[in-house]
Amino acid sequence: NWTMESFIDKEIARIRQIVGPNGQVVGAVSGGVDSTVAAKLMKEAIGNRFHAILVDNGVMRLNECETVKKQLGDHLGINLRVVQVSDLFLNRLKGITDPEKKRKIIGNTFIEVFEAEAAKIDQETKEGNHGEIQYLLQGTLYPDVIESISFKGPSATIKTHHNVGGLLENMKLKLIEPLRELFKDEVRELGKVLGLDEELIWRHPFPGPGIAIRILGEVTPEQVAIARAADHIYIEEIKKAGLYRKIAQAYAALLPVKAVGVMGDKRTYEQVIALRAVETSDFMTADWYPFPYDVLKHISNRIINEIKGVNRVVYDISSKPPATIEW
Ligand code: XMP
Repeated sequence: NWTMESFIDKEIARIRQIVGPNGQVVGAVSGGVDSTVAAKLMKEAIGNRFHAILVDNGVMRLNECETVKKQLGDHLGINLRVVQVSDLFLNRLKGITDPEKKRKIIGNTFIEVFEAEAAKIDQETKEGNHGEIQYLLQGTLYPDVIESISFKGPSATIKTHHNVGGLLENMKLKLIEPLRELFKDEVRELGKVLGLDEELIWRHPFPGPGIAIRILGEVTPEQVAIARAADHIYIEEIKKAGLYRKIAQAYAALLPVKAVGVMGDKRTYEQVIALRAVETSDFMTADWYPFPYDVLKHISNRIINEIKGVNRVVYDISSKPPATIEW
């Protein structure tokens, strides 16, 4: 009979056997539940021979880097390195407005940075006679396994996801995927048993390209600051209203249009924040979330009052399909 405890024991034994007494493993973490659970499982199995890497790409959420350091490093004891490369990403995103181009630039830069950091760790462990990096951890879930099988072919280009193929070839790393037989609800249960905080366990999914695809038009440091601040207020108010777990995914998008407003006796021309919140079971189809009006009203007031450069807030009432969840 299958229990979470027996799954953990079996998986830890399997990881130890695969990696051996000297093998080293690298893996990217994002602050999301899947990569955190996978990382914690590796930590339990092989301790500091698992090296977690967080790439700060400059388009993560407000205070995200600090939160991940606290949660994964301090609280869960995972051997974590943060690579601070915001400027590199933001420089490469200069002038880019096409969302698919943004995705490609961020995906490729991510692979480049991650690969360089993994090579550095490999060098260090070799010099210390602690063996070499042999494995790459991926937090792939069962539905991802199915999707990547059924999405082979032309439809694979519908969305470009992070792809670490280069790393596997250049460094000759093998993949290790401890979550590949689990569904999302099982990963959450596993996270609970492994000691993750409730808040992390129930976090909404966040796309790899981050708020770069939630800022329409060019991504500049100023636009990042506005989008981050709006999203932060939005999520904070959703949590305060006790609605966070009723919603599958929520975020604020920044629309780079100059809307007309008025302040005192002067007209203003400022940007628009679009709020998105959806209910969904599989993210393939989704419906917009029916917020109580007073919650929307409060969120709108706060965003307009607290964020300079925004004079209008709208709520997105489009379902998927035909609209997608991201803008
Ligand atoms: P869409 O916008 O296609 O989103 O309805 C469905 C789910 O996928 C996420 N998403 C992404 N995740 N890289 C990611 O890692 C991406 O480029 C990307 N685009 C969309 C989206 O947040 C939602 O959960």
